[in-house]
Amino acid sequence: MNRYKNTPLIKALNNFISEERIIMHMPGHKQGKGFDAGFTKNLLKFDLTELSGLDNFHKPEGVILESMEALEKAFGSLKSYFLVNGSTSGIHASILSCFERGDKVLINRNCHISVINALILFGIKPVFVMPDYMEEYSLPLPPGLNSWKKALDENPDAKGAFVTTPDYYGICQPLSELSHLLHENGKLLLVDEAHGAHFSFSRKLPETALEQGADLCIQSFHKTLPAVTQAAVLHIGSKRIDPEKVRRAVSMITTTSPSYVIMASIDYARDFAERKGAEIYEKLINILADTKGKLSAMKNLRILPDSIDNLKRDPTRIVIDTALSDISGYELYNRLFNEFGITAEMCDNSHVVFILTMADTADDINKLTQALIKIDKSINKAGTIALFSPPVSGSKCDIPDLHDFLDSKAEIPLKEAEGMICANAVTPYPPGIPVLCPGEVITKQHIRYIIKVKRAGADVHGLSTDDNGHEIIRILKRRCSL
Ligand SMILES: Cc1ncc(COP(=O)(O)O)c(C=O)c1O
Repeated sequence: MNRYKNTPLIKALNNFISEERIIMHMPGHKQGKGFDAGFTKNLLKFDLTELSGLDNFHKPEGVILESMEALEKAFGSLKSYFLVNGSTSGIHASILSCFERGDKVLINRNCHISVINALILFGIKPVFVMPDYMEEYSLPLPPGLNSWKKALDENPDAKGAFVTTPDYYGICQPLSELSHLLHENGKLLLVDEAHGAHFSFSRKLPETALEQGADLCIQSFHKTLPAVTQAAVLHIGSKRIDPEKVRRAVSMITTTSPSYVIMASIDYARDFAERKGAEIYEKLINILADTKGKLSAMKNLRILPDSIDNLKRDPTRIVIDTALSDISGYELYNRLFNEFGITAEMCDNSHVVFILTMADTADDINKLTQALIKIDKSINKAGTIALFSPPVSGSKCDIPDLHDFLDSKAEIPLKEAEGMICANAVTPYPPGIPVLCPGEVITKQHIRYIIKVKRAGADVHGLSTDDNGHEIIRILKRRCSL
């Protein structure tokens, strides 16, 4: 008997899970494999509210406080807070509490859309620091120390830096010297460590942001640890940050009905990783070393090395580069899904990214290896995909006032938008890094790039299409005097 009548979402979810798939994406619990059976069995029963003995997210004095104190011990923070709306809410709360309207902040330009939204919401002026670009793997690399130094020299009034590390490809921005530089100059270092929540649990993983001197960092537990979607945490690492101000900002932007399922999974993930992390990561990293050895023998597909241009990379993140083959990252992603039932985390024009966690089995990793080797053998032409790198935006971006942003209505065909000021963030998903930010001048290079990534298969947010299928972009009224 069909127990549901008009439930399109449930139908789609049922269809999705009805097939045996190998899950190489977030959430890190991998369809429950990372949880203990007793925990999974009770998960819906845990969906409770602020009842006797269960404490209160907004006024933690009991078990929630105790669990947050356990986070402080596990991560070596001065103070840690639960987040129940992903790293996004921690990014918003930290920018809200650490900076004031009108403040300048140094930010790597390849930051997540949640950072851009925080700038608009809270009236922060970004000084964008451009990523370096690595031709060999057509990848953005974190800006070098000299780029941060130059940005600071040119903007001595900046209040601090908001840095993303690791990035989606697992590449880490070294922070020790940067934190030293910032602190010497009386500035703050805040870090979006959404992809690095697991780093604390093995010496074989890169150093954490806090270990390298960050004043505050935000981590998505749900991306790499056994925790449900939206589970995240915020850690304070130094006395330069006022913990009460941060707590109030987190509380302001969080629902008054925080999910106990999410909070319980934060409790679970921290406890599990503390007890078992070192051992499981040792094993996982060894298996992956063997896998990478096998994959490095492929003729056309390439595996991204664990260290790139002297930068550390998260060894649990497998990245396949298709640039020397005749298939794009989008095609490789689809072939793995359709022919082998393997779902990767994300792809772009010439990469496919797989997230491996403590919940993955050697068997699944072996199936991925065999699938990649098989696809590699089926590719008989090398070196023919068209590579294109994101255009380099200037470091100046006049982020619009919140109401100019919300009220912007003017729309024009993308092809006619050169020289206009962009109103929306134009963002290929994943990884969710805007090609254009609100307040940036649209160039010919942006237009060409957006058309190319759309054609190649990316889902680009922030554009619409007219009846003839042409891309339409929203612009701000001001015209740029180029
Ligand atoms: C670098 C980075 N920061 C922040 C976020 C937002 O994290 P969340 O989805 O937990 O809100 C993401 C999400 O993908 C991300 O990739």
